[in-house]
Amino acid sequence: MAGLYAFLAFRASGAYCCRQKFNLLKGIGMESKYIVFDGMDGSGKGTQMELLKKKLPEVVFTREPGGTPFAEEIRNLVRDNPLAGQSTPLNNLLLFWAAREECMHNLVMPALKAGKHVFSDRGDSSTFAFQICGEEQGELMDFFMSLRKLVFAENSGRRQPDLYIVFDLPAEVARERALQDASRTKTHFDLRNIGYYERVRDGFQMFAGWWPVEFVDADRTPEEVHNSVMKILATKAILD
Ligand code: TYD
Repeated sequence: MAGLYAFLAFRASGAYCCRQKFNLLKGIGMESKYIVFDGMDGSGKGTQMELLKKKLPEVVFTREPGGTPFAEEIRNLVRDNPLAGQSTPLNNLLLFWAAREECMHNLVMPALKAGKHVFSDRGDSSTFAFQICGEEQGELMDFFMSLRKLVFAENSGRRQPDLYIVFDLPAEVARERALQDASRTKTHFDLRNIGYYERVRDGFQMFAGWWPVEFVDADRTPEEVHNSVMKILATKAILD
């Protein structure tokens, strides 16, 4: 894993520059915010998204993969079709980016341009943590970076997320929760071993080295976690 980290650090060295440039762009009337919520399966993210939806009716909520009718079709393919489990990490990476491109074009950008905040359940942080780190596919990093630049291209009027909020907890707790969750229809994504979960958790930590991430301790009650999220949103001046 140490070799993978060093390799990814080298490949993503351009990311810091992107972030600096992005910070300079803030303040040009960009009042609406694009926030991604992410975490391992079993992190309690779904419960938190529901609490936020109830509290914040003015926010546009979306999810990845999905959000628009076409992106939901891609979701059915990549998440629910068991054949996806037999496909390659590269193919999955492409499908997740395809769904993201669609959602950016037809949902996220129109909402942001209309002055609304967009809260997304998962984002490119998942692609990095799951497909690159979980699947140990460091050689896909250049490709990830190229797709990221295209899909979030500021010079064509797009934006990248302002903030990622990641629900963090020990890998074994997350995996146990995901397996025990009776309300969840099990997909090929749920059958992963503990090593995979640990790599995904490390992946989110690595992602935070390059893009703006706030971690929330998710090994607490839903109310405590929710209060922490609301505090972050207030501190970052995303909500009053
Ligand atoms: P879902 O049931 O929506 O999970 P959750 O409710 O926990 O968000 O399934 C989405 C699955 O897809 C989840 O296991 C994470 C995975 N995923 C990736 O592997 N890469 C990605 O880029 C995205 C967006 C999701």
